Amino acid sequence: MRFDGPQEDDTLSAGRVLGQPADRVDGTAKLTGQVRYAADRAGQAQNLAEGVIVGAAIAKGRLVSIDLSAAQAMPGVLGVVTADSAGPLAKGQFNNARLLAGPEIEHYHQAVALVIADSPETARAAANLVKCVYDAAPPVADLAASLDRAVAPASVPGGGATDSDLGDFDTAFARGPIRLDETYSTPGQSPAMMEPHASIATWGEDGLDLWTSTQMVAWVRNDMARILGLEPARVRVSSPFTGGGFGAKTSVRADALLAALGARLVGRPVRVVLPRALLFNNTQHRAATIQRVRIAADPDGTILALGHEAWSGDTNGARMEAAALPVRLLYSAPHRISRNRLVTHDLPECGPMRAPGETTGLMALEIAMDEMAEQLSMDPVQFRLRNDSQLHPVTGRPFSARQLARCFEIGAERFGWSARSATPGQRREGDQLIGLGTAAGVRGNTLMPSKARVRLHEDGRLTVETDMTDIGTGSYTIIAQTAAEMMGLDLDQVTVRLGESDFPVSCGSAGQFGAGNSTAGVYAACKALQAAILQRVGINSKEARFENGQVLGTAISVPLARAAAGGELVVEDGMEYGQLSELHQCTFAAQFVEVGVDVVTAEVRVRRMLAVCDAGRILNPKTARSQVIGSMVMGVGAALMEELVPDTNRGFFLNHDFAGYEIPVCADIFQQDAIFLNEPDEMASPIRAKGVGELGLCGVPAAISNAIYNATGVRLRDYPMTPDKLLAAMPPLP
Ligand code: MOS
Repeated sequence: MRFDGPQEDDTLSAGRVLGQPADRVDGTAKLTGQVRYAADRAGQAQNLAEGVIVGAAIAKGRLVSIDLSAAQAMPGVLGVVTADSAGPLAKGQFNNARLLAGPEIEHYHQAVALVIADSPETARAAANLVKCVYDAAPPVADLAASLDRAVAPASVPGGGATDSDLGDFDTAFARGPIRLDETYSTPGQSPAMMEPHASIATWGEDGLDLWTSTQMVAWVRNDMARILGLEPARVRVSSPFTGGGFGAKTSVRADALLAALGARLVGRPVRVVLPRALLFNNTQHRAATIQRVRIAADPDGTILALGHEAWSGDTNGARMEAAALPVRLLYSAPHRISRNRLVTHDLPECGPMRAPGETTGLMALEIAMDEMAEQLSMDPVQFRLRNDSQLHPVTGRPFSARQLARCFEIGAERFGWSARSATPGQRREGDQLIGLGTAAGVRGNTLMPSKARVRLHEDGRLTVETDMTDIGTGSYTIIAQTAAEMMGLDLDQVTVRLGESDFPVSCGSAGQFGAGNSTAGVYAACKALQAAILQRVGINSKEARFENGQVLGTAISVPLARAAAGGELVVEDGMEYGQLSELHQCTFAAQFVEVGVDVVTAEVRVRRMLAVCDAGRILNPKTARSQVIGSMVMGVGAALMEELVPDTNRGFFLNHDFAGYEIPVCADIFQQDAIFLNEPDEMASPIRAKGVGELGLCGVPAAISNAIYNATGVRLRDYPMTPDKLLAAMPPLP
């Protein structure tokens, strides 16, 4: 099915199942431990062997020699994979550094060997006996000290332009009556998903079976095939459950490739699980950024000139953390620039993480907007509304839907924004200074083709099959709701099967494009099934309806089971997007935060959070809320805790566990709320839903930072906003 624009279809308007706050259909299985994640499937593999990765101990240079003799002599060791023994391997499409190094080393903890043994303990002990001799070169690992090496990359993630220009920024900024010119920095961050990367690989007559933990089944299948030089049909990928990814499981990682190479070497299934300590430097992270924001405005608060420049680094100069992208979407200004600049460095490779680009860019831009509002003596909400626009600020074309202003109006009302004092440091309760902060969020709505197969069984039940993943987001549930709604079934009459590469290729889970596109694909498949059913039972399609497990014509009703009585009815289709209009599609949010800052220790507690989201039709308010409040927790982490600390001499991240890399826990979160405008976007798909998961994070760190300023009068521009930075500037104790 092809979607070319708004279409009349009232099948979905009732929302009997879709749009309802259904519990997760996989919730009970997860809570009772019946769900098997990749590493848990060991019991299903015959004669499983265990692999442990040896990571490089330098950031850059050469592996001069690798002595495997002691490891290989250990009883129980079955073999060791190295670049020498693995044979030729191509580079994958999505990875930047190679997943098995040697002799060249591109980053610290890049895999140099996989030791395979009959138990994990033996494999780990033997891995410690592998002796590597390196010839190390000095790494580039300090972004601030490397800005003179920055270049404009060929492109930025998502396909946007590196630069955008409108009018004459330099002149307009120089003449601006009221101006701001500040620099902000954000640290590297680790995805820190709960389930580490893990794979079990088995080779058989028809190729490789890979049980893994991924967000993108088809990407992994194709890239594994490419790296190993196989036909994609000879690689089967299975990832029915994924314990979080946050971007770091969009591509093949070392666990998958080395499990495959190890299994080929020893002729047995091999399991490779990345220990947490390896994950920080071996896999990908969100790049640190430095950002300069310049704003010039009239005294009435109209922005005249808006400039946002961002710098980040990556191994092999591969990927920009495009922080100067969201500025193009939010506020009007007749004169503007945005620039994304990339430094080649020798830290571990960067990748997409939790709303890449928008998260980091808004961490700077939305503090700058708060600072500018103060200079203008304007309320920060009013300043944003003054410069809001229904037209894309750079292209001048409309958005399919844009209700940012309403998000702010509703949020200000619900949050009690009018109680905020414009002068910071005015409100004290006990040992805490209290402050309120706000920020805007924006995140794109990306349209991706997505396919599904539906099976109507002889008993009238339905099964949906698609290679879509559920990374903790609720895909199983919203897909079941979509199919139940379309076919007139109850939720418990629909079974959803996900994450198998034998199933039709979906959009996968990334970039908050999973929910909108995967359900659109299921819609298309169900439409095709409806047509097949009508043909079988001989009802004219014009008047037919699907209700209560029946198909109803004008004069007759037929149970769905009867349509499948002659044998299971199997139909496959998907959604493709035609040349939609020139409208931009985005999701928008207003974020509100209240913090309390301890007057003595400068510890920040986030007391209340509210997100008001404009993200099209909401498929399931319960799972959507779960996505958004979870994202807001990530915002707390980004604002207050999360920081990869590079050793700039040796080129690696020093903190590589959850003692050294702090993330929020339940005790850090007090009160969260999410409001959805829930207005269908008819340009998004026939379902009219858009993604919402990553939107929940966008703007949150700046809102927290702005609340800290409102509480204390201390303006921090360097994330995370830890007590040591705050303490030095806190007001004196009374
Ligand atoms: Mo997301 S960071 O695109 O998985």
